[in-house]
Amino acid sequence: MNYKTFITEQVDALRRDVGNGIAINALSGGVDSSVVTVLAHRALGRQLKTIFVDNAIMREGEPQRVVKAFRDMGIPVELVDARKSFLRALKGLTDPEEKRQAITDTFYKDVFGKAVRRSKATFLLHGTILTDIEETVAGIKRQHNILSQIGIDPQKVYGYKVLEPLATLRKDGVRRVAALLGLPSCITKRIPFPGPALATRIVGEVTEAKLATVRKATAIVEEELGNTGAFQYLAVLLNDYATGIRNGKREFGQIIVVRCIDSVDARTATVRELPWSTLHRLTRRITAIPGVNRCLYDLTPKPPATVEYI
Ligand code: XMP
Repeated sequence: MNYKTFITEQVDALRRDVGNGIAINALSGGVDSSVVTVLAHRALGRQLKTIFVDNAIMREGEPQRVVKAFRDMGIPVELVDARKSFLRALKGLTDPEEKRQAITDTFYKDVFGKAVRRSKATFLLHGTILTDIEETVAGIKRQHNILSQIGIDPQKVYGYKVLEPLATLRKDGVRRVAALLGLPSCITKRIPFPGPALATRIVGEVTEAKLATVRKATAIVEEELGNTGAFQYLAVLLNDYATGIRNGKREFGQIIVVRCIDSVDARTATVRELPWSTLHRLTRRITAIPGVNRCLYDLTPKPPATVEYI
């Protein structure tokens, strides 16, 4: 595929489809939604409303960092603070699928629905890629970005039409387009990060206190393993507690698992053999987080494990 031609064609198609209307899109900072944002901004300028939803389960400083990266490119992004809505929806939930469902429902039925109505947009732009469609059809993935799967007919419920400008591309193609559009490498080279964010890395109930802990551990892991070139690296907070000893006193502390994997497409994964010195440094820093007294390294490939813990 000629990616320069792809860009021109998609920009033209967006202009044609949206006409004098208003289009809205949600930016997550991932490469797909970032490319949609830049393409649509080129095509539509001020007729495009881009929002970034702070759902309380993002990484350290992530909402501000993503919004700034786009504002620096001259693309206005509205930061919507929906932390309370998501935390309320997650309260008391421990089942992985219920947690995922609560996040999806809060996003589409509550937060995004309101933003769309407020914007008076009649077009919604989605970063769906070919792999998403294939995996959804094959039943491998429950893709939250395909509305009909969660029983929402966008035209009926919100009165808007969904446009998917990346639906013919796979990830490598999206990255090529991202580079051609001049997106910064912090976006084009970003390691995968799931839609349900840190909620996939807390086993059991998601609370503000647990989020603070896993967020700190995530920042340490990303800092320490950022130069490994691994496909993905992450921290998980378990629901169990273990006895430990700190300052001569016994304590019942939390357990963080570190995962660092190599993979091509996340369908299978092998575990990176990290040097002991790195593992020791990670352990030292992670067990300095208040309340955490154990750090484990996960040696399980995919399969039988998945990458995330919920
Ligand atoms: P699993 O845990 O299924 O993850 O082995 C495979 C890859 O997909 C990411 N992942 C998600 N991405 N929404 C996403 O956009 C999700 O619900 C989701 N769950 C997992 C995961 O980080 C890994 O790269």
